[in-house]
Amino acid sequence: MFILKKSLTRKIYKYTDKITVNALKETESTNKLAKQAALGGAKEGYTVIAERQTGGRGRLGRSFYSPDGGVYFSVVLRPDISPQETTFITVAAAVAVARAIEEVSGKQCLIKWVNDIYIDGKKVCGILTEGALSKSGEKLQYAVLGVGINLFEPKKGFPKDLPIADSIFNKKVKKCGIVQKNKLKAQIIAKSVNFFFEFYNKPHKSDYIKEYQRKSLLTGKRVTYTQNGETLIGEVLGIDDSARLIVKNGDKTTALYSGDVSITNVEGVF
Ligand code: BTN
Repeated sequence: MFILKKSLTRKIYKYTDKITVNALKETESTNKLAKQAALGGAKEGYTVIAERQTGGRGRLGRSFYSPDGGVYFSVVLRPDISPQETTFITVAAAVAVARAIEEVSGKQCLIKWVNDIYIDGKKVCGILTEGALSKSGEKLQYAVLGVGINLFEPKKGFPKDLPIADSIFNKKVKKCGIVQKNKLKAQIIAKSVNFFFEFYNKPHKSDYIKEYQRKSLLTGKRVTYTQNGETLIGEVLGIDDSARLIVKNGDKTTALYSGDVSITNVEGVF
């Protein structure tokens, strides 16, 4: 493992005072390292950042392509919440990262329920929140918020089997020097973390759930989803205040939880 350029770490500190950073050039998965740190007693806010991951993890057991050009970070959290409320960590993070990207790049972000950020119909960021239960099973012992952002196009481009992936900054920025790139990287990480903690510490979820609803990519779209083993097609009416996706299928309106549905296709988007 190599230590990430000190200048980048310093820049992150310049923009945020919320995080204790362990910055690495490469690791298997920052979520894996952050979970180990949490088990070892790391405090809330401890953050692992890597410039690339060799075994990046995505939701539903998928892998997350994590080459140079992106940024991958995981934050240890110690929330006093039930496992069901973990979704709100992802929701707060999605709004926080979307805002950070918009402020730094000037591009408009939409959030694909539950955890993906899109620009111009392409995925530029994925979020994975993992946690461990307390002994009683009623609360979380810790949670790890993992964020992977495609900042600059990878040297060899994105693999053919990832047609929905894209990077935030175009080829012009790709040509700019390491100093400018590190500045953009540091700003996006620091703003994401700052916005995230602002939401996370708010007593009312309504402060960020409204923005999550407004930024919904799926609202108004027809989606194919599976529920209880059955494949169904419906129209997305929106996201409710519990962060459930509201889908209309014929006369029936269903509220979907992140755990029991997978969006298999969205007409006109992919
Ligand atoms: C997804 O798109 O399914 C979620 C991807 C989450 C990727 C991030 S990158 C940082 C952290 N470390 C991981 O191994 N995964 C998350």
